[in-house]
Amino acid sequence: MKAKETIDRNVIIACDFSSAKQTCEFLKVFGEERPYLKIGMELFYAEGPEIVRQLKRKGFPIFLDLKLHDIPNTVKKTMSVLSKLEIDMCNLHAAGTIDMMKAALEGLTRPDGSRPILLAVTQLTSTSEERMQKELLISGQMEQVVARYAQNAQQAGLDGVVCSPLEAAIVKQSCGQKFLTVTPGVRFAESQSNDQIRITTPAKARSMGADYIVVGRPITASDNPREAYLRCVKEFNNNI
Ligand code: C5P
Repeated sequence: MKAKETIDRNVIIACDFSSAKQTCEFLKVFGEERPYLKIGMELFYAEGPEIVRQLKRKGFPIFLDLKLHDIPNTVKKTMSVLSKLEIDMCNLHAAGTIDMMKAALEGLTRPDGSRPILLAVTQLTSTSEERMQKELLISGQMEQVVARYAQNAQQAGLDGVVCSPLEAAIVKQSCGQKFLTVTPGVRFAESQSNDQIRITTPAKARSMGADYIVVGRPITASDNPREAYLRCVKEFNNNI
């Protein structure tokens, strides 16, 4: 069975906070709205699975961004545990090989055949082509590497990839329009890039083929996070 898509909410807020208290404080500004939230390593390791249960109980769709990368058996068993949290989306590193990704998918699939969306991270958006080649000894060009990792993920049966918006088009070309692209590294035209390298604006991300954008600091560090979120939604969905 295919994973259920929550396409009405395609701007995902990266809740890169270190406590449940800080997260709930941040979310107050959204009132009854239920934006898609990304819980990453920082918050998950600080608070454990209870933070996921808590936010799911409140009705937020959750992308659990733990970027698993281990031997296939370990990843399979871990995915099985995560699947029970009723998350909507999760991920792993495509660098873990096709076998690892297949094992993950098996572990993630619930007894009734349902499962969260499973994505593969191609190359982190903080990695430059130069560092990838010099430090990691991956000699291809960034676009070739991303395309190949995406094809591996598709071959393993995954739903899509996490990649830079600048690579969304190449992923769609290599894997087809239905293969999902979730892109971090999004910034408003006038804001700072922070540690991100391969970045673009919400509208540009959309025009390049992103299905979802993950936005952290431009929303979480804003003086008015709700306004910043709504601006992202508007720019991404209306392509302005
Ligand atoms: O604050 P910012 O918008 O840069 O946050 C981006 C989020 O997306 C962070 O939580 C980061 O861990 C995540 N991410 C990323 N690049 C990837 C995969 C995930 O920046 N390739």
